[in-house]
Amino acid sequence: MSKPAPAPAPGLVVDRNLALELVRVTEAAALAASRWIGRGDKNAADGAAVEAMRKAFDTVAITGTVVIGEGEMDEAPMLYIGEKVGLYAKAGGGPEVDIAVDPLEGTSITAKGGPNAIATVALAERGGFLHAPDIYMDKLAIGPGLPEGIVDLDAKPEENLRELARAKKCDIGDLMVCTLDRDRHKEMIRACRAAGARIMLLGDGDVSGVIAVSQPEAGVDIYMGSGGAPEGVLAAAALRCIGGQMQGRLMFENEDQIARARAMGITDPNRKYSVEEMAKGDVMFAATGVTSGAMLRGVRRFAGGAYTHSIVMRSKSGTVRYVEGHHNFARKPSAFIA
Ligand code: FBP
Repeated sequence: MSKPAPAPAPGLVVDRNLALELVRVTEAAALAASRWIGRGDKNAADGAAVEAMRKAFDTVAITGTVVIGEGEMDEAPMLYIGEKVGLYAKAGGGPEVDIAVDPLEGTSITAKGGPNAIATVALAERGGFLHAPDIYMDKLAIGPGLPEGIVDLDAKPEENLRELARAKKCDIGDLMVCTLDRDRHKEMIRACRAAGARIMLLGDGDVSGVIAVSQPEAGVDIYMGSGGAPEGVLAAAALRCIGGQMQGRLMFENEDQIARARAMGITDPNRKYSVEEMAKGDVMFAATGVTSGAMLRGVRRFAGGAYTHSIVMRSKSGTVRYVEGHHNFARKPSAFIA
């Protein structure tokens, strides 16, 4: 029997190969969720993704702490906030990192067989991620290569569009705004349309919606609107790697939420966070498509196996890789069988 590899010394700089290891983790979650595409059961899809992702983490050579996860310890059996994950989680050793996960981003989409569901993970050095509570975050994002600060969460939608069009030397009518199709965005959507912009409305899935601003082929110029705060941190991690500007502000609904956030280290409830303040230091991001979208193709299953399509990126090098997986279930270790 082969001996397990010795644990690297603690505190090592995050190894670049970890980024590729993360793809295995998102592939495992996507493969598991893919069994539930279109079957009308979002909880089963989510549960399958969570379980598979949790198991897959056991093979990654880290001592990881979940900081963005499936909820508090008493409400989530796996991948809860504070849970230790990774090959060295029990014994200690290896690089100590913080982990942000959304094993199935787009549970309803998956249940309906709609577009854009992904399994996603980000990794940072300890303390790198904003510890965002599970509330809404107001989000604003634009792609790379634009002057800093030309758009702002406190500006009106039409002002942001005017500044963005000026910086891009185009008409407002050339701009595509992306947002979630929600009643709470009605006024913002009306203002964008009145200013002449075009709008791409998403049913769900604002992690890929935000990332789209930094992917020219997605045809999105600006992301506006509120969605999950944890999803905001994951999107910020991706933008740290591929470039782009983002602001996020937590949207507290009551004093209880503010008190909980204080306990997590958030002192100013009105603060606008930049990309770097949500995901700082050395950051890695990976996602695998569950159903097809602008960023990734979904899982395609066939007899005895499946194809997956993933993206993986690192802030240090700025490298973005697309990974196609051809999975043969007959030969896969049990942790990765979907
Ligand atoms: P789930 O995968 O948890 O269903 O989240 C989907 C999503 O659309 C996120 O992308 C987004 O941040 C959030 O829900 C928006 O919440 P709401 O549906 O309450 O507007």
